[in-house]
Amino acid sequence: MTLKLPKSVKIVEVGPRDGLQNEKTVSTEAKIDLINRLSSCGLTYIEAGAFVSPKWVPQMADSLDVMQKIQRESNICYAALTPNLKGLEQATEANANEVAVFTSASEGFCHKNINCSIEESLARFKPLIEQAQLKDIPVRGYLSCIVDCPYDGPTDPEQVAKVAKDLIDLGCREVSLGDTIGTATPLQVAKVINAVTTQVPIERIAVHFHDTYGQALANIYQSLHMGVRVIDSSVAGLGGCPYAAGASGNVATEDVVYLCHGLGIETGINLPQLVEAGWEISQVLGRKPTSKVSLALHR
Ligand code: HMG
Ligand code: MG
Repeated sequence: MTLKLPKSVKIVEVGPRDGLQNEKTVSTEAKIDLINRLSSCGLTYIEAGAFVSPKWVPQMADSLDVMQKIQRESNICYAALTPNLKGLEQATEANANEVAVFTSASEGFCHKNINCSIEESLARFKPLIEQAQLKDIPVRGYLSCIVDCPYDGPTDPEQVAKVAKDLIDLGCREVSLGDTIGTATPLQVAKVINAVTTQVPIERIAVHFHDTYGQALANIYQSLHMGVRVIDSSVAGLGGCPYAAGASGNVATEDVVYLCHGLGIETGINLPQLVEAGWEISQVLGRKPTSKVSLALHR
């Protein structure tokens, strides 16, 4: 299925969470500065933290402090990961505008990442989503390992479709399909999207590509042609995944914005300002952004 390219897309900036969860720990002030800078770039959605066990991911331990101290813009959704009810309680205290539950299409990654089976994870999300709905907090769903799992090998697209539908049926507003270890190529992505769209409307699907094998932009191009309108990305290409050894950061937001603008697709994002935000946090980390667009544009 090939559709016309859209007029605009929504970028979900996951750098402060997916990026910084897998970098050396940076100060709370540096995180706040990053999010404030991102807030002035024209982004409308920023994943600002994760209310997960600090024993599992110490880099996110200060998410409450971060979310309470950022300067919020009224048109921006500041979201956070919540694996369970305890996480939802903290996200509520932090005034998260949206929360995200996360599971996997493969059992191996699910166990390593959240210490339970896929079925147990869905059972855990049920009361969380019910509580969130009572509080008028929308819930996003993440589905990892949509093509390959670092523990179980290749993932069956039918299994991705099944768990994606389960997340929607539980009440998730949207499901973000995650190529957690960045091995996917466009043909595999097409197969997964074709399978998922037999169960879930394309309007409720986002894509989340890590760029380990340098295929993320090609996969996004493929996804755009299949009707996807929501793209997750990370400023400066920050990050990886603590439970997927060798996985590199998400596709860099700067590269996605450049691609989209080149295709005549609006993002609402000011690229030079985004590049600056990426360089600032990269300096804190003591290295350069991995974004080629950022390297080319920075003077
Ligand atoms: P567990 O050990 O099975 O849970 O972990 P537990 O309920 O037995 O609790 C153990 C301890 O953690 C207890 O503390 C709890 O209070 C505490 P203790 O009594 O030992 O002092 N705890 C919490 N603390 C703070 N916030 C919470 C929380 N819950 C329990 N919400 C658990 C289960 C899910 C908590 C754990 O496995 C966990 O936190 N996992 C998160 C791992 C993670 O954050 N991974 C990265 C994000 S996912 C990702 O990156 C993929 C994605 O980007 C998409 C893609 O790329 O594919 C989204
Ligand atoms: Mg990720």
